[in-house]
Amino acid sequence: MPPAGGVTLGAGQRENFGQMENFAKSFVVPLLAKRRWTRVCEIGARLGGITELLAMFPSIALTVIDPCLDCDLKEKFAGNPHVTVKKGISLKVLPELHNAFDCILIDGDHNWYTVYHELKVISDRDLLKRGGIVFLHDVEWPWGRRDMYYQPEMIPSEYRHSWEQKGVVRGRRELTDRGGFCPAYCKATCEGGARNGVLTAIEDFLREHKDEYKFFRVRGDFGLGIMYHRKNFREDLKFLTVECQGVAYNVFTWPKRFTKVHFPSAFSLAKSLFGRA
Ligand SMILES: C[S@@+](CC[C@H](N)C(=O)[O-])C[C@H]1O[C@@H](n2cnc3c(N)ncnc32)[C@H](O)[C@@H]1O
Repeated sequence: MPPAGGVTLGAGQRENFGQMENFAKSFVVPLLAKRRWTRVCEIGARLGGITELLAMFPSIALTVIDPCLDCDLKEKFAGNPHVTVKKGISLKVLPELHNAFDCILIDGDHNWYTVYHELKVISDRDLLKRGGIVFLHDVEWPWGRRDMYYQPEMIPSEYRHSWEQKGVVRGRRELTDRGGFCPAYCKATCEGGARNGVLTAIEDFLREHKDEYKFFRVRGDFGLGIMYHRKNFREDLKFLTVECQGVAYNVFTWPKRFTKVHFPSAFSLAKSLFGRA
């Protein structure tokens, strides 16, 4: 059972469990350079690394939503007229927004309740233009089928799974007392089942919006979901090129992913020898 009261981790306790920098560089930045996108929203920015990357495009107005648990993003981007930081959780901030975005990056609270409702608010309030794209990080292990809660007390109890601060082990439904991945974070005790995890949230949302969106998954680095809001034949065709790029990415990164999952020691060794694996 979750302990009573708040359990928000201190900044020093939070592990960096995977950033979407690789994906941002491979998919988001090239699209920003190619398309005439002007309005982008980033949900979950941590230290603002991706924000800095996106802020390099002076034609883009960037809205950042984050409760700023690790870093005062408002202060960090105070001098940048292209970046507006909305300090708060997505489900409080999104309903206050009015203008639609060309592109939305979702990498905030990795649980079913938050992601499903983020997508629902975006759809209900028309916050994503037709022809626009939502990028969602962490659609694979460990949060694809298991909720993680930054602040469990913020999730309504009927949607919150029983959770613990223990490590996650690939291929194991239960958590472990010894080591594992991300032991300090609050996460669902069991993996899988209904209303559990980021990918489950996306699938549930898409089931209710069948013909409105196209969805594609890019593998590795905890997984990237690419959700395109259909517009017309010409624009839909353009998305096909993004899908093709995703297929190529999946093919070329397959050896790395295979080694990481099946030979983790060899992967770690290669990483320590050659830097980023
Ligand atoms: C995994 S980090 C984001 C990393 C960032 N995308 C990067 O690659 O550098 C998750 C971020 O989501 C923020 N966050 C947690 N709960 C949130 C919520 N409900 N709404 C918006 N952001 C949230 C955290 O403060 C944290 O900064």
